[in-house]
Amino acid sequence: MNEIQKKHMMNEVKDEVTRLYEMENHSLSEILDHFHIKIEPYVSLMTDYQCACMEVETKFRVLSSRLSVYGELNPIETIKSRIKSPESIIRKLDRKNMPINIESIKDGLTDVAGVRVICSFVEDIYRLEKVFLEQDDITLINRKDYIEQPKYNGYRSLHLIVTVPIFTETGKRFVNVEVQIRTIAMDFWASLEHKLRYKKDMPDDLLNSLSEELKICAEESAALDQRMEKVKNRIIQSNQMESEFRVRSE
Ligand code: GTP
Ligand code: MG
Repeated sequence: MNEIQKKHMMNEVKDEVTRLYEMENHSLSEILDHFHIKIEPYVSLMTDYQCACMEVETKFRVLSSRLSVYGELNPIETIKSRIKSPESIIRKLDRKNMPINIESIKDGLTDVAGVRVICSFVEDIYRLEKVFLEQDDITLINRKDYIEQPKYNGYRSLHLIVTVPIFTETGKRFVNVEVQIRTIAMDFWASLEHKLRYKKDMPDDLLNSLSEELKICAEESAALDQRMEKVKNRIIQSNQMESEFRVRSE
């Protein structure tokens, strides 16, 4: 068998696996059963991730109310969290050539629990990162700054992998959470790009031209973020000048 035939055969096997994972109308227990994963430890592990999301979400909600009272403008627009679906977990373990079991999920994946924080301005992202990481129960495991260094396709966001302790009836456990902090503009771009990524039935030339177009959109939206930030800073400056003037004339 030559290299091309081998590649073709591998793709066929892969398609079979993918189809299996994407089978609709399968219950969680059917999916887990198929991979010989016991449902109870799986649900218990997912509950840990759910709790870790709640902990991290609460931290950002607390920061949001503190900063909007004592800061200049409300820095957080929205906070969302999600637990990776069983299908995505299985697909990712398979991609990483890891055995499909509870240990692999715990040791091999750092993004089962995910929290996304959407800010108005880029400055807010770094300010939030700083105050979040200063909390002494948060440990930073990995940091990727795709704002400073955007991905080849134009994707921008700040990614932090942290561990957070959760306190349960059986004791304290440290759980990984992936935190993505981005602006509204970055989020708007990412959601559209995400849709394009899953369009498999598109001719190559259209896909290439749309990818190119999206890259330009990413650059334009980054420029818009910068301009909006300047506008905000001028508003803040003018407010400060006004209040100084008021104090002086009292
Ligand atoms: P994954 O295997 O996709 O988790 O990538 P990774 O482990 O190398 O981590 P990375 O920090 O690059 O990306 C993690 C997550 O960021 C993804 O699951 C997406 O939610 C988001 N992300 C990363 N790159 C892109 C992108 O190009 N487009 C969009 N829309 N989202 C992205
Ligand atoms: Mg991921």
